[in-house]
Amino acid sequence: MRRLFIALTLTAAPFALSAQTAEPKTAEQAFHNIVQLKDIPADQLIPTMQFISSSLGVECSFCHVEGKMELDEKPTKRSAREMMAMMMAINKNNFGDRREVTCYSCHHGSAHPASYPPVQESDAPAHAAPAIAEPAGAVPTVDQITEKYVAALGGAEAIHKITSRVLEGKILVGGNETPIEVLTKAPNKRVSISHMSSGESFTAFDGTAGWMGSTGRPAREMSAAESGASGLDAEFYLAPRLKEIFTQLRRGRPEEIGGVECETLIGTGPGRPPVRLYFDQKSGLLVRMVRFAETPLGRNPTQIDYADYREVDGVKTPFRWTLARPNGRFTIQIADEKTNVPIDDAKFAKPTGVVK
Ligand code: HEC
Ligand code: HEC
Repeated sequence: MRRLFIALTLTAAPFALSAQTAEPKTAEQAFHNIVQLKDIPADQLIPTMQFISSSLGVECSFCHVEGKMELDEKPTKRSAREMMAMMMAINKNNFGDRREVTCYSCHHGSAHPASYPPVQESDAPAHAAPAIAEPAGAVPTVDQITEKYVAALGGAEAIHKITSRVLEGKILVGGNETPIEVLTKAPNKRVSISHMSSGESFTAFDGTAGWMGSTGRPAREMSAAESGASGLDAEFYLAPRLKEIFTQLRRGRPEEIGGVECETLIGTGPGRPPVRLYFDQKSGLLVRMVRFAETPLGRNPTQIDYADYREVDGVKTPFRWTLARPNGRFTIQIADEKTNVPIDDAKFAKPTGVVK
């Protein structure tokens, strides 16, 4: 069951850094031996390390002596520092200081970037990425895409008649199945509770901030970035509120996902992670959300694919979703949904002390 705990806490920094402290610490203040990343917020250091690791396709131990992260013993760690300086210089000198080139641009998941293109491995005709032609005639506007989404779910009136949901199902991680419950309440409270043999594990947003916990351990607050992402998942009326939640919402190029042609919206807003939303051109339903956590070296993506939409009390919700990050993924399959069940607010509140 340890894998499950890891999956649920993928973004969890091993260092519980409070999102609520008035003067957030810098990385230099919170760690021992920081040279390049001195001024970044301390709670961005681990996400930055995760970005580096997945960009190079390596584990932390590629650069670090386990348990003594501050040591500069390994030459790879020293190279990484030089690479950070190089990356910043490339962007400064060539891209007006915009972060266009990152570790991933060159490394593409390998410690040793390739310097020449690969040869063809088979004599089958090369398969170019499918480009979707813009449909002839008028392209849909942002409003039309969001309105179609709301209509596809059942319409604004039906959506607003529901104020809470209790979902029961299972979480699937690497061949293991664990029962899970997801409680959600308007406007933006959510807790998912997975019932493992060793106890329960919680991921929650209390309406203001996110927290995580598991039986026998003190619950911890999420970092600002995790909390923003968790708050987005908790938006009960996401569909009708898209334009409020993302103050900037623009249409991107249509893309194909698993054979389905999709409209794309790109959203940003204060206190929100930047997102890309993909809507099935035919049904209008949301099939994918990719949200990004900023780090100084690049963005860590989280992709959520929504499927198996079913109608309960006049509104469709996805009964299956898969959450994937560079370092792991899991799927939740819902079996039963109940709407408008009264849920005590205490269910969403971060417990003080150890979670029972
Ligand atoms: C490719 C090399 C590389 C990888 C992989 C890497 N790191 Fe680092 N790490 C560094 C460098 C370089 C620094 C110092 C940054 C600086 O000087 O600004 C650092 C600093 C740190 C520090 C601060 C230590 C201190 O007290 O000074 C921690 C903690 C850390 N890394 C954790 C991790 C974790 C956890 C992982 C795996 C998710 C990881 N690192 C993966 C290169 C790496
Ligand atoms: C402009 C391209 C480019 C960028 C950007 C880049 N690298 Fe590199 N990196 C290279 C090349 C080329 C090598 C040498 C390849 C080899 O060792 O085979 C290398 C080597 C390394 C090595 C040494 C690997 C080893 O086994 O000794 C580390 C560690 C590394 N890069 C980390 C990073 C990190 C971290 C970033 C982002 C901060 C980054 N690189 C950004 C091109 C790049």
